Amino acid sequence: MTTLTTAGFHHVTMVSSDARRTLAFYRDLLGVGLVKRTVNFDDPSSYHLYFGDASGAPGTILTFFEWSGAPRGNWGVGGVHHLALGVATAEGQLKWKRRLVDAGVAVSGPFDRGWFRSIYFRDPDGQVLEVATRGPGYAVDEPIDALGKVEVAPPRSAELRGARDEAAITARTHPEPVPVITPDMALEGIHHVTAITDDLSRLNEFYDRALGLRLIKQSFNQDDPSTKHWFWGSYDGQEVKPHSALTFFGWPAGARPARGGVGQTHHLAFRAGSAEEQLAWRDHLLSLGVEVSPVMDRTYFQSIYFRDPDGLLLELATDGPGFTVDEDVVTLGSELRLPAWLETEREQIEHQLQPLQV
Ligand SMILES: [Fe+2]
Ligand SMILES: [Fe+2]
Repeated sequence: MTTLTTAGFHHVTMVSSDARRTLAFYRDLLGVGLVKRTVNFDDPSSYHLYFGDASGAPGTILTFFEWSGAPRGNWGVGGVHHLALGVATAEGQLKWKRRLVDAGVAVSGPFDRGWFRSIYFRDPDGQVLEVATRGPGYAVDEPIDALGKVEVAPPRSAELRGARDEAAITARTHPEPVPVITPDMALEGIHHVTAITDDLSRLNEFYDRALGLRLIKQSFNQDDPSTKHWFWGSYDGQEVKPHSALTFFGWPAGARPARGGVGQTHHLAFRAGSAEEQLAWRDHLLSLGVEVSPVMDRTYFQSIYFRDPDGLLLELATDGPGFTVDEDVVTLGSELRLPAWLETEREQIEHQLQPLQV
């Protein structure tokens, strides 16, 4: 058994077809700060935008590659189904529903999942997003020191698809318009990521051994109770660390594979801690027979890449040096930043990019 345990997600990277539209949706509608505007280091003719909290702390970071003109992808085995962002309270969540619906975004829920409440919507490229409440948490139906050991029914059986009152759920919203994001609506970064597999047991072995993520819930998909839904997290028997929950829907063997593209998640990055720890992670993964990339310098962190048994692309990224390495914290994201080796091409790169609103 590994002694290495990731502290949770570092960032999630998705694919946008239009950086300007993505900026308007995430920054202006969802209120998630732009912490870095740069280019895809492997394709400097396109943007790579980073959003996050005020300092771009690991666990709050959402990034987008801009692939204009690329086809839309589709979810399936080996791909991500949705990304959930945290909010403190159910009241704050209802305000999000009202704000989004008033902006013309279709929202479903709130659904009481037992462990948290959920609303769902899509970004302009079709990426499925959820806003999930912080609590009550995974210990609502199991002792905190024994999460995930046995299969449990979803805690709210009256809230499963087919049993719940869909009309009442649809009608539930905040009574007033929400033109300004209030403090109780603040999005708290990555609450969980839900992906799709057709072999939950194989993934359990992989995520446990490779990343030190522990099974914290074995249950069923509440919108399709004939299929399983398992949760993993950075869990020490006392606490599930924030920004660490990775969940998988268990589809039947041989189900449709994911197809990457616009509106899909490109990869999931977990925290490697320091550069020294990252080298230990690399050795650890190699010892398990996992193919791992060399360490790559991403300016704001260093990364190694590998895949899970379904082919889902994973990354382990260092916490440092962070987004303030080339900008002051108060001006993060205000201008195009390029790594030193691309500065000599700045004029040409800027010419190829559509200007973004500051
Ligand atoms: Fe979810
Ligand atoms: Fe990444």
